[in-house]
Amino acid sequence: MTAAQTMSRVEAPLKVTGAAKYAADHTPPGTLHAVLVGAPAPAGRITGIDTAAALAECGVVKVLTAKDMPRFGEVKPPAAVLSLPLQENIFRFEGEPVALVLAESIEAAEAGRAAVVVRFDAATPVLPGSGWREPPPTPRLLGDDVALGDAASGLAQGAVKIDQAYFQEARHHNAMETAATVAQFENGKLTLWDSVQASGNVPPVVAAALGMNADDIRVICPHTGGGFGSKGYVWPHQIIAAAAARIVQRPVKLHLRRHDQFVCVGYQPRLEQRIQLAATRDGRLTAIVHEAVNACAIADTYVEPATEASKSLYAAPAIRTRQWLERSNINVPTPMRAPVEGPGLWALESAMNELAAALEIDPLDLRLFNHADVEPMTKKPWSSKKLREAYQEGARLFGWAGRDQRTRQDGPWRIGYGMATSTMGSFRFAAGARVRLKADGTARIEANTHDIGTGTQTVFCRIAAEELGLPIENVSIAWGDTRLPPSGPVYGSSATGGTGSAVALACRELKAQLGRLGAGNDPRTLLGEAGLPEIVADGAFTLPGGAPFNANGDGTPFAMSTWGAIFVEVGIDPEFGLVRLRRAVGAYSAGRIINLKTAISQMTGGIIWGWGKATMEESVQDPTTGAWLAKNLSNVAVPVNADIPSDITIHFVEEYDEHASAIGARGIGELGATGVDAAVAAAIFDAVGVRIRELPILPWKILGEHAPG
Ligand code: MOS
Repeated sequence: MTAAQTMSRVEAPLKVTGAAKYAADHTPPGTLHAVLVGAPAPAGRITGIDTAAALAECGVVKVLTAKDMPRFGEVKPPAAVLSLPLQENIFRFEGEPVALVLAESIEAAEAGRAAVVVRFDAATPVLPGSGWREPPPTPRLLGDDVALGDAASGLAQGAVKIDQAYFQEARHHNAMETAATVAQFENGKLTLWDSVQASGNVPPVVAAALGMNADDIRVICPHTGGGFGSKGYVWPHQIIAAAAARIVQRPVKLHLRRHDQFVCVGYQPRLEQRIQLAATRDGRLTAIVHEAVNACAIADTYVEPATEASKSLYAAPAIRTRQWLERSNINVPTPMRAPVEGPGLWALESAMNELAAALEIDPLDLRLFNHADVEPMTKKPWSSKKLREAYQEGARLFGWAGRDQRTRQDGPWRIGYGMATSTMGSFRFAAGARVRLKADGTARIEANTHDIGTGTQTVFCRIAAEELGLPIENVSIAWGDTRLPPSGPVYGSSATGGTGSAVALACRELKAQLGRLGAGNDPRTLLGEAGLPEIVADGAFTLPGGAPFNANGDGTPFAMSTWGAIFVEVGIDPEFGLVRLRRAVGAYSAGRIINLKTAISQMTGGIIWGWGKATMEESVQDPTTGAWLAKNLSNVAVPVNADIPSDITIHFVEEYDEHASAIGARGIGELGATGVDAAVAAAIFDAVGVRIRELPILPWKILGEHAPG
């Protein structure tokens, strides 16, 4: 790593000194604090809400129920919930907002919430796991059911077959900063201090709900304390906070309690997947059939398009996919870090490892035999693909070929090795950015981007510094305000490629302006001689047909995706079923890497996230009501430092993708989390011969016992 590649985060001093202000840190004068009251049961009809006791609490100003709320206008995606709460007397999941307590302090609001009595007639809930299955509505953003070739005859032709079901439990994002919206009306215009991954998504949705003009809504979000997808779309609490502020004509702060996070901002749904693979004796796939069922709400829809993984990863002549929803009385899920291929690879890559074992072929060789040189469904060339190099370099760094010569025992620990392919589609969003180059030799980027901890501002500063030939310390960035030039969202592993391209294009336009001012490149001289305090340029990253979004290169001559290979070594204590990560190597093909330090952090974090999914995370539901059992973070298991070895190696294949973006990058954020679970399951099988097909892989599953209790 060169010094330039180790650029640390530009916003880090703000965060470590506590100067960074998050949404809920804003308290305009006169602010009322709001707390949601949730439905006390999974299904029913409200017969009355007694607010007298709540209103008697010192400091409680108002309790708003459906009777007080305006009839919301129709909202569309990126609204996460289309059937908005507080509109009728029916509720469809435990915790669905049924009232809002407003008070002079958060303590008073909490006391008021506890005193609200919701009277209701309970209905019999449809319980998770016993819901009805139906195909998701069309059109779908992703997850269309496809058929390539003849899957039935492909399955029949195979000499060796795998037909297995793979499960994963629901899990929540559990971001450190719970979602928060501070809403303030002034002269009919609305300002929201909001904790989001895409503030540009908020005005159109809130405007539609409240019957406002989106241009009259400003969203400010300087820092986002983690999101992982839970702050990507627009959720009811954002609309409710704004509606309440309009009703009471005072600023309203709605900072979700940790409890609310489980029901108000989505989660990754429970998934059941079935994979059928068939292959010739020498390991050529003849068919892939992939079906996925995700748990879903009654009134709202989220499809977890896990089958996407099977459409493009391997060169099978026959591929068939099918998505299903299973509806029950729960809140609606949403994308969560490494959606789509993340869940999909748990199934596909587990099945590939089982196929390799059945064929007695090295699992890495099986992947190489079936490498997709072109996109399997469309036969389009890839914009750039260096997966073979990633396999090779990952295997070399890990010592994959020599693994059987290594020790298999370390004290009580039995050691196993596993691998899987990583992949994540290439999401691209149209994005803009403005760059000002000043006569003092500094540059300022203006872009309504956000940072959820990935280092976006840092990466954009670096792009501008490189493009303009300036020292990095001369570049600054303004972000997190809808008054800035609209940029892409910070989700879908898309921000660097999209907004980063817009920054680069603005800088290239500035260089052209400098060129017109005269020879030489020193902006101080050129601007000084021209008597200009600054020059300004806008950059726009555009997509085919002027679309706001493009998935996987659709509508272009190229297919786009990202890939990698993950290798893990685990230790199992066979007496207790304990499982430990000992080391991991991830090698990736994701286009150009802009800033190696933050990129390595992203992938390391992804592997840790994947380890959590593989061995710890599950959001348990009460089997009699479907309600999430967790009300706070106690008993919510996620990896901590003691769970993670220092021996995690990240490698990026040298690559420049000229088709995916203006800076050679595709995207990395979520890629690192994919495939880890399947690699871990394979390593456990390698160590102790237990094949586990249900996430998370808890000790009792390794011991082969039944669920405790
Ligand atoms: Mo991620 S689920 O794209 O925030």
